[in-house]
Amino acid sequence: MMRGVCAGVLVFLCACQSRGESKDAPRPAALPALPWRAAAVAHGGVGSPPDRSDGCRKAVDVALATLAQGADPVDAAVAGVRVLEDDPRFNAGTGARLRLDGKTAQLDAAVMTSAGRFGAVAALENVRHPVQVARAVMDTPHLLLVGEGATAFARAMGEAPYDVTTDESRAKWQDLRRKLLAHDPSLPEGWRDFDYRRAWNFQAAAAEAGLDPEDAGTDTVGVAVRGADGRFGVALSTGGTSLTLRGRVGDVPILGAGLYAGPHGAVAATGTGERILEASLARRSYDRLAAGATAAATAKGAVDELRGKDIGVIVISARELAADADRPMAWAGREEGSGEYTGPAASP
Ligand code: GLY
Repeated sequence: MMRGVCAGVLVFLCACQSRGESKDAPRPAALPALPWRAAAVAHGGVGSPPDRSDGCRKAVDVALATLAQGADPVDAAVAGVRVLEDDPRFNAGTGARLRLDGKTAQLDAAVMTSAGRFGAVAALENVRHPVQVARAVMDTPHLLLVGEGATAFARAMGEAPYDVTTDESRAKWQDLRRKLLAHDPSLPEGWRDFDYRRAWNFQAAAAEAGLDPEDAGTDTVGVAVRGADGRFGVALSTGGTSLTLRGRVGDVPILGAGLYAGPHGAVAATGTGERILEASLARRSYDRLAAGATAAATAKGAVDELRGKDIGVIVISARELAADADRPMAWAGREEGSGEYTGPAASP
């Protein structure tokens, strides 16, 4: 019996060491007594002009108003993201980036609660509010639906077919096409020498897309919400990036990559999905928050890890909210009952 207990302790110690933990690791910060002051923070994606923060303010206002009506924080975050999905200036829902063929838009979205509930969709097509579909997935036995199955699920949930393309998304794709054909040095490293013609997997031929022979950026919209009752909710939505084959999935719908929530707060990222995925960025940032880091230090730590690789983060905790990015970024945060927003100045 004693030997079994000793072996158990040893296994526990080894497990702690292999996770880089020790008895000296910072203790989790004590959570303040309830009720808390409700708050919300929203971002419009790394690289989004900061003067578009008016869109983020609107998302924050809608999230807080939804919360004030008694909604769960995750539903308040969804309501905020819907506002950004309807704003064609952001790469989510209406205005989402077109993929390499210049026609296809594929949409990813995810939601998470501080109780650990999660729902996500990937490579969804022709849906106005992907975040609403991700929220519906949270009420199924699944965590993630992809592609045609996800789109059919959206229809079953009452989402009518909807064309998310805009003149601006078509113009952005034309600019990208010019850069690809010119082997422009501003293209991301992996794409300068990648022979996409050999990997072409769109329905229309590459020649039809005009690809026979600023901005390939990836941005996303996100909202994180703190409820007065001590719960958090977070939601993300993205059109991904144009430099992708059909079926590419980034960080947004992957648990712990683009977003994470727990009893200490919520984290939502934006930027190059592949790098965010490799870093399990949101989960690891949340762990720092839970270990006692401030929201600002958590956001800065996440950006420092991937600095120069196109990265932005918003963080909300029991007491604070913060954002950081390695490029300009539209974002806004506000506490309930305050008329003051945190974040860049917005267009009137
Ligand atoms: N961060 C969005 C994406 O890479 O898809």
